[in-house]
Amino acid sequence: MSSSYLIKGGKPLKGEVVLSGAKNVALKTIIASLMFKGDVVLENIPKINDVLDLIELIKSLGAKVEFKEKNTLVINSDNLQNNRVDLLFSSKIRVSFMLFAPLLRRFGECFVPNPGGCRIGARPIDRIIKGLVALGIKVDYDSETGYYHAKIINKPKGKYRFEKPSHTGTELLMLIGLMTDEKVEIDNIANEPEIDDLVLYLISAGANIQEERNKIIISKSPQLKQRESFVIMSDRNELVTYATLAVASQGSVIIGPIKEDLIISFLEIMRKTGAGVEKIAKDKFRFFYQGKVRPVDIETSPHPGFMTDWQPSWAILMLTAKGESVIHERVFENRFSYVEELKKLGAKIDFTDTKVENPENFYHFNFEENKEYQQTIKIHGGNELHNAILSISDLRAGAALACAALLASGESIVNGTSILERGYEDFVEKIRKLGGEIKKV
Ligand code: EPU
Repeated sequence: MSSSYLIKGGKPLKGEVVLSGAKNVALKTIIASLMFKGDVVLENIPKINDVLDLIELIKSLGAKVEFKEKNTLVINSDNLQNNRVDLLFSSKIRVSFMLFAPLLRRFGECFVPNPGGCRIGARPIDRIIKGLVALGIKVDYDSETGYYHAKIINKPKGKYRFEKPSHTGTELLMLIGLMTDEKVEIDNIANEPEIDDLVLYLISAGANIQEERNKIIISKSPQLKQRESFVIMSDRNELVTYATLAVASQGSVIIGPIKEDLIISFLEIMRKTGAGVEKIAKDKFRFFYQGKVRPVDIETSPHPGFMTDWQPSWAILMLTAKGESVIHERVFENRFSYVEELKKLGAKIDFTDTKVENPENFYHFNFEENKEYQQTIKIHGGNELHNAILSISDLRAGAALACAALLASGESIVNGTSILERGYEDFVEKIRKLGGEIKKV
């Protein structure tokens, strides 16, 4: 189902945004909950399309799921009946491959579709499948049906070192580790704070997990059982969307709750632009325009670097900075789908060539020597934007396009907003509260 926004741009946005729970924790804690016995209560779960689709998926496996209040979810998976993940659901919810863990635990074998590519790159799961095999899981792939068949012969154990880190891969192998009778060690892991939140959730239910630098060690754990409800962390990506918009629109927005150490690299870069950044409480920041924004180059990288999810929003801020700035994307190989759309608003952006000495190591995707990549853009900022009809093709790019329309003069239409709503709760309502003119059409 698709939908559109009608946006009348040009107003400075002012007010306060209360952040929703992090999408990339909500999805993982919901899946992990299927490894628990009895009722599980998760708080601060955002009501976004990805979460709603995942709920339908786990219901199709036999889980009981109910929203008690707007953001409190109760899950009980004591009677899971189905060990085959539906292809249609899986095509909607990429992280459904994490279901390998609870389904293997419950049934000893399962059938999970290959999540395939998506619009921000090929997104293979080769490193993750290698990890499952290294820990002793038998995995066969049927290229005709597109399904993996995974089976536990012996309880998982041993070590696996990711060639290059993977965020969801780290989380899946950690869940697999919970089935060990001995020890599982995962090395060269991703270090995103969203993973730490999942670890906290599991430990609070009895899991034996030790996090070291770049390494996670899982020892034999008892059956997970929740002692008290778990509140998931705020969405850092949402913060960046509203913070950049506040400054780009020459406004002032207070955003929280958020822990400062989760957004340090963003705050540092934001300050370099000359934007106002003020910590007004332990977990609240004000982002505001205080005169001309300076162009600042960025390069994306996993935590603690400048996140790949933030770069489309950064591009929008840089459109308002007079002069040239460069964005170099290192994590995914196709994260500039918004460029052609922004040009419709009058933005001046070119793809440029960046010579990198050792691209196999420098980029986090599987770099192929003979393939053409477009990993760098140059933004010529400071030009007025005018209205246009825009089309969203991926989540973060979608939020950036809606924000760009909020900066442009006149009325714009943004199509494909159900993709944006996969990850942003109450986007229209939050923008309206800040004084933005936006409505669903
Ligand atoms: N990769 C492989 N093979 C693998 C695993 C990963 O080639 O087996 C590649 C990916 O294609 C990518 C790079 O390695 O080029 C890093 O991928 P990673 O596995 O770390 O990313 P992910 O787990 O698929 C999560 C978030 C993304 C976020 C990245 C980076 C979720 C559901 N998704 O993706 O969030 O950008 O980590 O932090 O947690 C979003 O929220 O819009 C989003 C895309």
